[in-house]
Amino acid sequence: MTKLLSFSLLFSALLFVSCGSDASNDTANSDKDSTNQDSLVIPQDDHSYSNSDDVFTKHLHLDLNVDFETSILSGSVTHDIENLTGATTMIFDMNDEKISHITLDDDTVGTEFTIGEDDELLGSPLTVTIKPETKKLTIYYETDPGSNALQWLTPQQTSGKKHPYLYTQGQAVLTRTWIPCQDTPLKRITYSAKIQTPKNLMAVMSADNPTEKSADGIYNFDMPQPIPTYLIALAVGDLTFATLGERTGVYTEPNMLQKCVSEFVDVEKMVIAAEELYGEYKWGRYDIIVLPPSFPFGGMENPKLTFATPTIIAGDRSLVSLIAHELAHSWSGNLVTNATWDDFWLNEGFTVYIENRIMEKVYSKEYSDMLLSIEYQGLINENEDILSGSHPEDTHLKLDLEGRDPDEGMTAIAYVKGALFLKTLEAAVGREKFDPFLKSYFDTYAFQAITTEIFIDYLNTNLLEPNKIDFNTDEWIHGEGIPDNCIVIDSDRFDIVTEKAKLITTVTTSKELNVKKEDWTTHEWIHFIRQIPAEADASKMEMLDKEFNFSNCGNAEIMSEWYLISIQKGYDKINKPMETFLINVGRRKYLQPLYEELAKTEDGLAFAKQIYAKARPNYHSVSSGTIDEILNWKE
Ligand code: BES
Ligand code: ZN
Repeated sequence: MTKLLSFSLLFSALLFVSCGSDASNDTANSDKDSTNQDSLVIPQDDHSYSNSDDVFTKHLHLDLNVDFETSILSGSVTHDIENLTGATTMIFDMNDEKISHITLDDDTVGTEFTIGEDDELLGSPLTVTIKPETKKLTIYYETDPGSNALQWLTPQQTSGKKHPYLYTQGQAVLTRTWIPCQDTPLKRITYSAKIQTPKNLMAVMSADNPTEKSADGIYNFDMPQPIPTYLIALAVGDLTFATLGERTGVYTEPNMLQKCVSEFVDVEKMVIAAEELYGEYKWGRYDIIVLPPSFPFGGMENPKLTFATPTIIAGDRSLVSLIAHELAHSWSGNLVTNATWDDFWLNEGFTVYIENRIMEKVYSKEYSDMLLSIEYQGLINENEDILSGSHPEDTHLKLDLEGRDPDEGMTAIAYVKGALFLKTLEAAVGREKFDPFLKSYFDTYAFQAITTEIFIDYLNTNLLEPNKIDFNTDEWIHGEGIPDNCIVIDSDRFDIVTEKAKLITTVTTSKELNVKKEDWTTHEWIHFIRQIPAEADASKMEMLDKEFNFSNCGNAEIMSEWYLISIQKGYDKINKPMETFLINVGRRKYLQPLYEELAKTEDGLAFAKQIYAKARPNYHSVSSGTIDEILNWKE
């Protein structure tokens, strides 16, 4: 569904003027001639109702009160708007908010508005009557206690157990469940906020942040860099702050602070490494908030303030590549943004590639190769699964998610096939050409939203054609599966691990394997667990567990891999620790495979439901939505 924006001369002239020097609302339009212009025009966003081509928000101001008693945010959002076409209505996205009234400019009498039919995923269009000269529009509203973006935690669900906690998750289409806005990555806004919290708590946002609690519970925020709405974020809790480096720091609950500081010693180095590769870090500070364990993702790249799961605090810094990933989004995703969720790989594939480059630079190539090799195995499996399912076209980098949840694009295809496409290009042209190319790509499209087609055009013009390189780009972008020329990632250290794993079926005690726990790193152990031979039965699992104690090792990556294989092999000594894990941890990446595996047998399904009844109240809607489907759960 492409809207041919630029076919009206007048229209594109207007568009051009408005985009000119103002970074806040740029969507990239290529200056190519009309021959292939069709494909380079910015398309419509199938996941937003807004009429942002005509009239859009440049800046929004939130004035919200946080009420833990009722689980409601209440107050107002003011939109500073730009009306390009003299539109007399402005359409926003909303989902379940209660709106009391809407005012224009300095009027106190409300203007008319209608709320369209409700779609479970996309919410409803909110159509507001405006005047062509309206500059400001204020929506007075409150959120629904069940708002999908928000998770309200009781003190019991936090680490300190004394204070309640609230955090938001906006990507992909959830910001509209707490802020009525034009919720599309096509447009960028700056924002400011005044947040009133209970007195003993601190509020932080994807903005310039306080480092201490205020006396009155009021916090004022400013986000001067323009961002898409999915990156607006808020967390409120008993937070403390510690400095990591010159521009880096960490927020978390007091009893977690020291652990986090020690886990994140290398974060400032990561920022420096990324800047050396791709140019200046454009967001001022880079801080991290380590959230309660219910956070449904590993990390979320909210600008200036990455949101992270506490499951990466392994105690040995072995899972910090996740920080490299979220930091990498400061270039891919936050600076240059996917125009629609069909172009999601532009965010995630680039980010996995950059994450790996950062890990190589800060640690070593040996280590970054192990990390990528683990990802590659995941890709091979997921690619096969998708190809044999009902949407084999989901293995294309360019997706078509119209009518579907953008979450369905969150597969290893966008992440790992995307990264390997860039790796393969890198190998074809050499780093001395590829690195400056990527840097200039980020400079050229900074603070803009772009499509896959625009990237491909840029790639052809600036890298492939000048270097006379023939590349099967089209196959990578629009073809199924993984192209034959995909670069191979191998690791000598993993080869040794593979050989050891083969011995599992022949030895009678783990001692005969001749490896000690401390001989290998986390990722070697993950590889080992994945390589446990198909013939090894539950007794072999018990033999390994006795020696290496995977079931209770405390490293979430290792435990989740171990539980998965244990379920497959009917090794039921994991039941207790796995139950504890599933009740405490809300990270969907771990939950989904475990519940899916359990649901394959009748007994397993019954066990899964029994655990889920206890665990579900601890999960964010993103995770419970997925698990509800797997278990066919009705509230
Ligand atoms: N931006 C994503 C998380 C996301 C994607 C949320 C789509 C909602 C919709 C984040 O950067 C991410 O990729 N997180 C991964 C981290 C991993 C790849 C290192 C995660 O949470 O597992
Ligand atoms: Zn990501």
